[in-house]
Amino acid sequence: MLKPHHRLHLHLFFLFLHLPFSLSATSPADIAALKSFKAAIDPSTIRPSSCLGSWDFSSDPCLTPRTTHFICGLTCSPDSTRVVSITLDSAGYSGTLTPLVSKLTQLVLLDLGQNSFHGTIPLSLSSLSLLQSLSLRYNSFSGPLPSSIATLTSLQDLDLSGNLLSGPLPNTLFSLSHLTRLDLSFNKFSGNLPKLPPNLLEIAIKANSLSGPIVKTSFIGLTRLETVELSANSFTGVLQSWFFQLPGLQQINLSNNSLSGVEIWKPNRGYSSGLVAVDLGFNKIEGYLPVSLLGFPALASLSLRYNRLRGTIPLELCKKGTIKRLYLDGNYLTGTPPAGFFPGVGKESPVAGSFGDNCLRGCPPKSQLCLPSQKPMSVCKQVYGGKRHG
Ligand SMILES: *[C@@H]1O[C@H](CO)[C@@H](O)[C@H](O)[C@H]1NC(C)=O
Ligand SMILES: *[C@@H]1O[C@H](CO)[C@@H](O)[C@H](O)[C@H]1NC(C)=O
Repeated sequence: MLKPHHRLHLHLFFLFLHLPFSLSATSPADIAALKSFKAAIDPSTIRPSSCLGSWDFSSDPCLTPRTTHFICGLTCSPDSTRVVSITLDSAGYSGTLTPLVSKLTQLVLLDLGQNSFHGTIPLSLSSLSLLQSLSLRYNSFSGPLPSSIATLTSLQDLDLSGNLLSGPLPNTLFSLSHLTRLDLSFNKFSGNLPKLPPNLLEIAIKANSLSGPIVKTSFIGLTRLETVELSANSFTGVLQSWFFQLPGLQQINLSNNSLSGVEIWKPNRGYSSGLVAVDLGFNKIEGYLPVSLLGFPALASLSLRYNRLRGTIPLELCKKGTIKRLYLDGNYLTGTPPAGFFPGVGKESPVAGSFGDNCLRGCPPKSQLCLPSQKPMSVCKQVYGGKRHG
């Protein structure tokens, strides 16, 4: 006869015996989806020591502890029934992303970064309604960004940088209402910038073929936007004042485009703005130096190098103590640069940067700031029509 507490122990013993099985019955649909996921990858690129190498379907994917199979690359829900994330290692997998990945309906995170996936982004991805983070960065995906992506309303982080994606950006993009980070850099996207998702903190679409002007309708309601990295595209037109007044803005890089001008209202005294860095180098900006930028209290880095600016370097620029990096080289600036930039032997200039390759007179050739040397007189005379300036 067993004493009651022994019977309890025996009971627990049987319970534990069953535990691994009852707690790790991965849903059959998820198992099927994982099998198709692996089957779409060229087996010759799956090394035994890699994550996918350990995906051995002779045992249950969510079964713990995972010491010999499914060692890495995926995580399951706490009750071990559903796959909630796939984070592949960068092991050089080559293959396509199966449309059946959409059967993993509890997926929150999908990261296939830095492999050799190719083919298009499957339309079916749009049914992963819980997906919060999608990274396909640095693969060889091609074709368009499907406009159905807009149905991924849980998405917070979308990184498709470093692929071969092309065509216009879908104008449904703004529906991604939880998106805070968007990186589409180093692709072949073309066309205009569409209306952007309202909660973005960071947008990077560097080195694509986007064109047209930067218009207010794209940025309406983006009050939290901090970082704009749109360099190396083909944007044209005049960058207008509203852009600099986006309230969250800290860093702007629009270098290497074809902007023809900047228009900035002079901010009122006591204007609060966290704008720290502005890079508008390598454009076709005409006119005078936009001194209104000096009204931005935190500005520390300004590049307007290699544009078509004329006129003098104003004294205020030297007086503004916050500026530590100032690149104005490669323009047609004239006159004598403010003496405050050149405090004399043994003392450091208040800024790093360059005033070189302009039409300046009296830029002390011993100062780093004055390198490279100024443009030949003949070029400057042509630009200023032989008139003396400054
Ligand atoms: C802006 O982007 C260009 C290349 O696209 C880069 O060379 C430059 O350093 C960036 N500017 C800043 C201030 O980081
Ligand atoms: C400008 O962007 C183009 C295209 O991305 C690139 O080839 C070129 O090197 C860039 N030039 C500069 C000065 O950054």
